[in-house]
Amino acid sequence: MSNAVMKQPDSGGTWVHTGDLVAGDINLRPSISVIGLGYVGAVSVACFANLGFRMVGADVVEAKVESISNGVSPIVEEGLETLLRDGVSRGLIEATTDVEESVRQTDITFLSVGTPTAADGGCDMKYVRAAAQSIGRALKDKDGYHLIVMRCSVPPGTTMSVVVPEVEAASGKELDVGFGVCFNPEFLREGVAVNDFYNPPKTVIGASNPRAAAQLAAVYRVVDEKVLMCSITGAEMVKYIDNVWHAAKVTFANEVGRLCKAVEVDSHEVMNIFVQDTKLNLSPYYLKPGFAFGGSCLPKEVRAVEHLAEAYQIKTPLFDSLMASNKLQIEEGLKMVRRFAGKRIGFLGVAFKCDTDDLRESPALELMAALLQEDQQFSAFDPNLRVSSSTRSHFEYMRHARPHLANLMDKLPEVLRPSIDDVLDSCDVVVVSHARDDYRRAILHRRKGIQVIDLVRLFAELPDDPDYHGISW
Ligand SMILES: NC(=O)c1ccc[n+]([C@@H]2O[C@H](COP(=O)([O-])OP(=O)(O)OC[C@H]3O[C@@H](n4cnc5c(N)ncnc54)[C@H](O)[C@@H]3O)[C@@H](O)[C@H]2O)c1
Repeated sequence: MSNAVMKQPDSGGTWVHTGDLVAGDINLRPSISVIGLGYVGAVSVACFANLGFRMVGADVVEAKVESISNGVSPIVEEGLETLLRDGVSRGLIEATTDVEESVRQTDITFLSVGTPTAADGGCDMKYVRAAAQSIGRALKDKDGYHLIVMRCSVPPGTTMSVVVPEVEAASGKELDVGFGVCFNPEFLREGVAVNDFYNPPKTVIGASNPRAAAQLAAVYRVVDEKVLMCSITGAEMVKYIDNVWHAAKVTFANEVGRLCKAVEVDSHEVMNIFVQDTKLNLSPYYLKPGFAFGGSCLPKEVRAVEHLAEAYQIKTPLFDSLMASNKLQIEEGLKMVRRFAGKRIGFLGVAFKCDTDDLRESPALELMAALLQEDQQFSAFDPNLRVSSSTRSHFEYMRHARPHLANLMDKLPEVLRPSIDDVLDSCDVVVVSHARDDYRRAILHRRKGIQVIDLVRLFAELPDDPDYHGISW
């Protein structure tokens, strides 16, 4: 079998017939029902049939069922009709309005009904609920284990709090005994959905048990061997966050465009260069939740761009929201510290980030300044910040540049400690604002009872520790 052959359209631009290329006997492959034959469902039916799976599509709309049954695409989507026609002629695609029957006839059910916006702006769950009830009724009369794969975009928690209870109530069966559940978000782009199916940007599976995870991963193996496994709620959230990110990218680019046009710079010249930076711009960098941004550049330049837009009377609401959102993150940190009012607070990390002594617009200083105003006791350590004649000049700069921090600058030489241990020995709560190995070690081996406020995600695996508190996790 060659994935290269499978993933390429033939010279005529239609999709290469691949079913025979899939390893294994067709009869051993699970059969799949797809509930909801819209953009997502129709593509799934066609593409999985093309890989040799027996597919049964189900929809409440008769016209869609008739269309799929006749190998005619119900939507405009390149390559779809060829695959549907091929699947129907090979006897691998059927469609029905009898949703329950489609479930009874198959081993796996993909759920891809619509989840439109509800009147209150949330997610309307009525189609998901109705489809889950149909699946449940079908499973009541079906022997053996069944796998349900949720493909709709829904708020985190929906699969376990809506789909599973509906299926359990209607079937009388128990999750992970009578049936398993996966959440498998759909990332296809309309217009190039068939191509995306065979070349997915990623395949994500959140599963209720390892058997369900393995069963679904096996279905996808031919198109993607490197499936990303996560929790069900994680998988649900991934889909939402992906789309918010894509929307943020479009909006960002359009604000750049409006501003560039006003200042007579070619926005495409700027963004063509911007996108070539895969180290800082288009990369995981800056994309992990943590503490607020600060330093000598980001806040200053964001303010400058906001000012520029205002001067040219260009509206840039996304840019304008950045400083306000950053301030909220500092307030979030402060809220966490205030939960321990009256306790002795210790800070590990003072400069605006690791490996620098630059105090300019350091968010940790904002926390300290607030505590100082509230007469809260605190100490601090930063290996790059020892009080000497040079740091005193630094403090002088801060006193003038950030007048609201002037009192703190006077106090800082007094609260700075020479070592991590000096801070930990004299605090009840430690606030960590830099991700360093010596801080990680110190936190793991700290005296029992010291509360930890982690602003930087010190540990990939969250500690099982009631005294540990993360800012955004
Ligand atoms: N369209 C996309 O590009 C895309 C991409 C990723 C994820 N999604 C998500 O996938 C889901 C489906 O999207 P879509 O665009 O295919 O929706 P769609 O509205 O095109 O199709 C949904 C289908 O479900 C059918 N349906 C509704 N209730 C039913 C029921 N009880 N039983 C059987 N069929 C029923 C409808 O008749 C309709 O044909 C949504 O949650 C959507 O957010 C869509």
